[in-house]
Amino acid sequence: MKKILSYIPIILLVIFLTSLKKSSTNDTLTTSNSDKVIEQKVDSVLALMHLNEKIGQLVQYSGKWNATGPSSSKTDQFKLEKLKNGEVGSMLNIASVATTRETQKIVMDNSRLKIPLIFGYDVIHGYKTIFPIPLGETASWDLNIIKNTAAIAAKETAASGIHWTFAPMIDVSRDARWGRIMEGAGEDVYLNKVVGVARINGFQGTNLTDTNTIAACAKHFAGYGFAEAGRDYNTVNVGEFELHNTILPPFKAAAEAGVATFMNSFNEIDGIPATGHKVLQRDILKRDWNWNGFIVSDWGSIGEMRNHGYAKDKKHASEIAMNAGSDMDMESYAYEANLERLLEEKKITLAQLDDAVKRVLRVKFKLGLFKDPYKYCNEEREKNNVFTEAHLAIARDGAKKSIVLLKNETNILPLSKNIKSIAVIGPLANDKDTPLGNWRGKGENNSAVSLLEGIKNAIGNNTEIHYEKGIDLTVPNIKPGSNQFLHPLEFNNTDNSGIAAAVDAAKKADVVLLAIGENAYQTGEGRSQSNIGLLGLQNELLKAVYKVNKNVVIVLMNGRPMDISWAAKHVPSILECWFLGSESGNAIADVIFGDYNPSGKLPVSFPHNVGQEPLYYNQKMTGRPSSPKHVTYSGYQDAPKTALYPFGFGLSYTTFEYKNLMLDKTEIPTNGEIKVSVDVTNTGNRDGEEVIQLYIRDLIGSITRPIKELKGFEKTMIKSGETKTIHFTINAETLQFYTINKKWEVELGDFNVWVGGDSTTNLKASFTVVD
Ligand code: BGC
Repeated sequence: MKKILSYIPIILLVIFLTSLKKSSTNDTLTTSNSDKVIEQKVDSVLALMHLNEKIGQLVQYSGKWNATGPSSSKTDQFKLEKLKNGEVGSMLNIASVATTRETQKIVMDNSRLKIPLIFGYDVIHGYKTIFPIPLGETASWDLNIIKNTAAIAAKETAASGIHWTFAPMIDVSRDARWGRIMEGAGEDVYLNKVVGVARINGFQGTNLTDTNTIAACAKHFAGYGFAEAGRDYNTVNVGEFELHNTILPPFKAAAEAGVATFMNSFNEIDGIPATGHKVLQRDILKRDWNWNGFIVSDWGSIGEMRNHGYAKDKKHASEIAMNAGSDMDMESYAYEANLERLLEEKKITLAQLDDAVKRVLRVKFKLGLFKDPYKYCNEEREKNNVFTEAHLAIARDGAKKSIVLLKNETNILPLSKNIKSIAVIGPLANDKDTPLGNWRGKGENNSAVSLLEGIKNAIGNNTEIHYEKGIDLTVPNIKPGSNQFLHPLEFNNTDNSGIAAAVDAAKKADVVLLAIGENAYQTGEGRSQSNIGLLGLQNELLKAVYKVNKNVVIVLMNGRPMDISWAAKHVPSILECWFLGSESGNAIADVIFGDYNPSGKLPVSFPHNVGQEPLYYNQKMTGRPSSPKHVTYSGYQDAPKTALYPFGFGLSYTTFEYKNLMLDKTEIPTNGEIKVSVDVTNTGNRDGEEVIQLYIRDLIGSITRPIKELKGFEKTMIKSGETKTIHFTINAETLQFYTINKKWEVELGDFNVWVGGDSTTNLKASFTVVD
């Protein structure tokens, strides 16, 4: 028997060679010919697999292997045995050439069929070179830079032996309380679509067999961004039409862009946990969208269906998940223990199991792992392909483009490089860690350029710099350097002993740069907050400094829209700097000294206060949108209902004027097309980039429609004094929505169209869709 087993790889080889003969090229994503070949290979491997091996392909473990050999812990021993038996399809959280090679070798040396593992990791905004958090980078509205940073992240990740990132997150997110708002592209459907596709194209490139590309994962399918009250993992209650019109479009775009994998999500939707949601996974994604990648569960989300009160035990949970089309089990240990029995009991079918296995094998073939399971394991690439000067230059470019100038009332900014003195104050002013954000891949702790360093790098010795921290934002970590991803933060609410020195520094300076906002770990998974203001003693510091020097520029670092209404009222300048990554301080200095004219625009609305959340520009009208006289309309008695800083908003050091909005016709049939043009003039005395935004409203719908919807944008450089004519096209793609007929259709009737520099633009035209 043993002898026969040892021949099996040869049998495999024979099958491969036969199918290779029919192939004209390597495994690629692009040609249908190679798709056919991949299908043949997948089938040939499947035909050889025993049941335990099939189930094994659907198992994903997290591991902390180290280069000198697997640890002796009981769980690790258990995983080791499973690996040897070929009963594991994937591992996550193993990173480095040495560890991935070692783990892959366990499978290659011991398992019967030697089916390579696929290694996954959360590479959210960079691997070693850290780029702006996804929400911040979206503020660039620059799809090229977004694609480029994803491509570099892929290159660095692949250089560490990893094949697969759990990104991009394309959950439309409208609640600033939700900590994971930092991880996506914000509140708008269109922006999530195009930014998501740019990231997928960046990660995957055009050929997944290329050792510089990795498989992407569209997550979390679906509805995770709609957690009630912004509380992570919470219940989601959206109706069918909201699901189709708002939540699903970015996922459909991802599927069409060829994303290799999907991840389902922790939340329930209208009573059904997403992980066990057949309509979402089997009917919509796999059948209607005809997508052939695999779906990985979220961490333990199969098992968590017990907590939801949806499954009585893990066996029941496995039955639900498999029937619903959830292919790979991340860390629930549910499939491995139950699928065989469920098959025997006919609660799941072999066809379902085979389909799931084929999906996993398909991605492995597309990555070229069968040809060379170690192809990503190359020490030279690992050493030389990461954190390079070239990567850092792109990180700086992406970071400066992501900064949003929210206020510049007295034109303090840009500062002259000949300024006599600057006070650089605040808990985040010389913080080299916070700009890395929460999901920082393998970015070294404390490796970002701080604001203070960036300022010093930018100016000569003639300017005095007075640095004072003022306060600590959080109580210094008890275990310095420990991974804080899972740990709650403790804010400093008592020690204000440094404020006096900060006030002295402010008194001495021409201008104060005040770096405040959030700790890196304040946003991210599990980081929901009911208070989105400046926590700890930051308000005290801000007010004390402002009292002695009115020339304050707030350099805000944060992962969510914050309540900064006091600052917005008093402080003359505010720069929204998110968590900008490795080159943070240099990029901020580029903007502060005018080497780069800020061009970022908000991908999320900033509220006046947390009570307005969830707040987003593309709301519905309601039956009582406004009333000048009475209280009986949809608003608040103690706050406006609009944003403090709206979606799409961001200032420049120059100004832009919009004129001559023209439509080439005012009536079109449902399949017609309208050309829109607008003249945009740079009326200031600096060259600058502007993001020209196109919005529409369908005035009467079979389903009520949002008051405005972004449908296109163009970011372009306009020279001082220059006028550019910008063109957009409106067509069925722009106008259709998921109608009362449960179909994507263009409905007849009147539409408004607006063009402008943010979502409050009132430069408007109208047209009608006629029969
Ligand atoms: C998150 C996912 C992530 C996974 C693996 C989960 O807790 O929700 O987004 O990819 O962990 O780390």
